[in-house]
Amino acid sequence: MKKILDRITEEMKGAFTAAGYDATYGKVTLSNRPDLCEYQCNGAMAAAKDYKKKPIDIANGVVEHLKDSEIFEEVSAVMPGFINLKIGSGFLADYMNGMRTGEKLGMEPAEHPETVIVDYGGANVAKPLHVGHLRAAVIGEAIKRMGRFVGHKVIGDVHLGDWGLQMGLIIEELKERQPELCYFDEGYTGEYPEEPPFTISELEEIYPAASAKSKVDEAFKERAQEATFRLQSGYAPYRAIWNHIMSVSLKDLKKNYSNLNVEFDLWKGESDAQPYIPAMIDDLVEKGLAYESQGALVVDIAEETDTKELPPCIIRKSDGAALYATSDLATIVEREQDFHPDHYIYVVDKRQDLHFTQVFRVAKKAGIVAPERKMDFVGFGTMNGKDGKPFKTREGGVMRLENLIADISEAAYNRIMENRTISPEEARETAKIVGLAALKYGDLSNQATKDYVFDIERFTSFEGNTGPYILYTIARINSILKKYEAVCGTPKDPVILPPEAEPEKTLMLALSRFSEVMEAGFEELAPHKICAYIYELSNALNHFYHETKIIAEEDKEKQAGYIGLVTLTRSVLTTCIGLLGFEAPERM
Ligand code: ARG
Repeated sequence: MKKILDRITEEMKGAFTAAGYDATYGKVTLSNRPDLCEYQCNGAMAAAKDYKKKPIDIANGVVEHLKDSEIFEEVSAVMPGFINLKIGSGFLADYMNGMRTGEKLGMEPAEHPETVIVDYGGANVAKPLHVGHLRAAVIGEAIKRMGRFVGHKVIGDVHLGDWGLQMGLIIEELKERQPELCYFDEGYTGEYPEEPPFTISELEEIYPAASAKSKVDEAFKERAQEATFRLQSGYAPYRAIWNHIMSVSLKDLKKNYSNLNVEFDLWKGESDAQPYIPAMIDDLVEKGLAYESQGALVVDIAEETDTKELPPCIIRKSDGAALYATSDLATIVEREQDFHPDHYIYVVDKRQDLHFTQVFRVAKKAGIVAPERKMDFVGFGTMNGKDGKPFKTREGGVMRLENLIADISEAAYNRIMENRTISPEEARETAKIVGLAALKYGDLSNQATKDYVFDIERFTSFEGNTGPYILYTIARINSILKKYEAVCGTPKDPVILPPEAEPEKTLMLALSRFSEVMEAGFEELAPHKICAYIYELSNALNHFYHETKIIAEEDKEKQAGYIGLVTLTRSVLTTCIGLLGFEAPERM
């Protein structure tokens, strides 16, 4: 099904052509005066200059050709030359039925399906997952799902931080605690045990302890750096410890992400990119891009059009160590080889903006990716507490993700119990679903780049622009359908009839924009647009519900039409929340 705006625009362009003007003036937009019209075209104003005529005369001429339009029920030219449009009821009902019966709610498959890599999550192995990682996971997951819905082949990669100093710190700490372990016996020639020498809870305690020690004990820090270097150079015993750290930590990470409804296709990390580094560096040198500067190897990335001075990208430090950027570049080499992506999307804290500018520019300069390759950095802001500072626990520590989820589920539970419509047992289960929705919607409804305040009271409220409000609307539809089915049985083919009243039409107009919103949402990598849309849609549904007798309607055909309409609304809402990465309970 063609997008409604495309259908309208086509019709308008036809009218401009028929009236003797260029079709390009027939651009239509949503009305900015919803009190006057639903859509509008301002093309007559632009055409006036080129054709040296009065805009209103042009508008009147164009309107003449829309008198018999099947799409519009009202077309008017108003001073100084606007064309105001109202969509015809019959056309709208047809459009609704097309969505109702069509695949993917009438959304057309992408014209040019692309292979897209979404790099998100970015957890650091062996360090606890904290709220800083929440946004990456939540936003990235939404973007991945949105891309898939639009019709692309999207691959989500967690890109673990699994190759850094934390590994050396853990190794050294372990050595101090258990020097008798075979990994630390330089003369050892046997096999390494399959069982890790630590559990996840031990590991979770080891890293912070080692990290704290390294801040006060310079010698310890140096030993940890040395251990990291040995690991990275392939020293077998340390590689064996690394494998243990990975297996223990990954199991825990997978559980955590799964609780968030976040699923990765690839569990790769910085370590996987290491084999690609030497050849890549040779190539950068050979191409004359990388050069020595104060012992380090760097690539200039500044461009003439830059408004501020951008430092060169450091590829190798003077001590020979590779850096974060080196790893990211080598990862691109690997991804090119494995997937030939058309589009790269990185969802990472916005403070890493410079890093990604450097990486993208080097990748293009060096021909690691083709010049036309799309490379996007979705830099997100910080989640703050009510004090406007980065979110902390009450004790002032870093809040762990699990605790945050537990807190918000508890708040959701209390809200659900206020309603007293379900048993405490059911409320417990429901609260998990509602809590996650509250958390994710609270995050996603803001433009990603902006910082936002984590406000548990507001996020869990059943009213206003919140996740629970959207879920509540879905639950309301479920309840309407249940009541209807109890009396009339399962609706066979509830054909939606042309709207008669304003609330009905408003709801249909909102529904009809579904495909457009999905497309624009992915195009702009903006999940908040989907949130804004489902909020508007929920408001329209609730307005319709309050103004319309659905269950008491005596005209059975009309009633079936209402059922078709609310069912379609539910499908659109559940599809959208699915893209945002959460679900709705049956009732709440
Ligand atoms: N591990 C990094 C961090 O915690 C994020 C990784 C983001 N992805 C990337 N390709 N650099 O800051």
